[in-house]
Amino acid sequence: MSKAVETKQETNEGVRLHGGAVSNQGLPIAGGGRKPATYEVICGDAREAVLALPEVHGIVTSPPYFGKRTYGQSEAEVGQEAEVDPYVDALVEVLSSVPLHPRASIWVNIGDKRGDKGGLLDIPHRFTRAMCQAGYLLADHVIWAKAVVLQDGTTVGGLMPEPAPGRLNGNGFEEMFRFVRTRKVSDAWTDTCAVAIPRSNVEDMRYLPKELMSCHTSLEGRRPPNVWQVPMGQTRQNHFGVFPASLVERCIAMTCPAWVNADASLPERIVEMVPYVEGRGTDRYLGKRSLVAADDEGEMREMCGRNDTGQTYVPHKPVTLGWTDCDPTGQPGIVLDPFAGTGTTGEDALKLGRSFIGIDLYDEYCQIARRRCEETMRFLDVDLPP
Ligand SMILES: C[S@@+](CC[C@H](N)C(=O)[O-])C[C@H]1O[C@@H](n2cnc3c(N)ncnc32)[C@H](O)[C@@H]1O
Repeated sequence: MSKAVETKQETNEGVRLHGGAVSNQGLPIAGGGRKPATYEVICGDAREAVLALPEVHGIVTSPPYFGKRTYGQSEAEVGQEAEVDPYVDALVEVLSSVPLHPRASIWVNIGDKRGDKGGLLDIPHRFTRAMCQAGYLLADHVIWAKAVVLQDGTTVGGLMPEPAPGRLNGNGFEEMFRFVRTRKVSDAWTDTCAVAIPRSNVEDMRYLPKELMSCHTSLEGRRPPNVWQVPMGQTRQNHFGVFPASLVERCIAMTCPAWVNADASLPERIVEMVPYVEGRGTDRYLGKRSLVAADDEGEMREMCGRNDTGQTYVPHKPVTLGWTDCDPTGQPGIVLDPFAGTGTTGEDALKLGRSFIGIDLYDEYCQIARRRCEETMRFLDVDLPP
């Protein structure tokens, strides 16, 4: 099942339709005759279903964790293996069988489990090692912080209680990993401006309005760090293990191309690093130790706004000049979730103007995911074809 969507989005230049024109700030958008974004949810074993897919341009997924939950009765269900190694092998098999664009990224949220004696099985890192042995580079390692305790004892975020004695509450974080198959990490397609965070004294320019992307991003801002505080939140979906929508947004915006040209090349944001006034009192600084009293660390910090530099520091911000060629006969990039569950990745992909393919073993979840994609398209105010 596949349906068309046209998404309204605001750019600096006002409201545009996905596919309407090339926006010089937000998404790269091809001209008339464009193909709209689509979705498809396939019911089946991901190991087989991925073999029949078209080329996809990004994967964002949260596979079933090892030995934690049962989603149904099928023997093909991943996570029910007796040992960790076959579980890890099944994940690597699924991910490496996907026909993936050579510059695409794979994001995986994976959790750990404790063995009989209470020790952690270290599953996330056994999985990353297996992916690297299969030829991938581990490009990013994100900590999804659910609850963080500060020095003064206050906690940011909510924490599920865990009544085990003699150790810390282990529910404070989970991990997200990004893998690429390029020769170098920097060869993979990325748009870091799309996920940049506000920078002092630089006017905010959101990548997409908050109705389409709840994470606050600022195109001329700073690259975000790799610890993301995202509350679990409430879900309306009838499913265990739904991940929060805002966890997925940055992954898609940063690494899944919004547009793919007919020759499979990917439009790139053209960015110039421009000096700007940081608003810390002195415009361009000036952090040379020789310029301030060598023993006066305080004065140097105040002047240059940094306490680690011994070099001249001039603040720069990324300014978008436009996009490389954007062919109107291309198509929106396709985001895949091979363990789609209720389709959180699908909802986010469509809101961000990408197409979506989801796979789940159980029809019950496929139906929820389809319904969710359909609702998203209605939310985007589109005319659904009959
Ligand atoms: C952790 S859940 C994904 C939840 C999803 N991220 C969401 O937000 O709803 C993992 C899903 O993988 C599915 N699954 C398990 N084994 C599978 C297999 N062999 N092929 C495809 N899907 C499978 C389960 O049915 C379950 O819905």
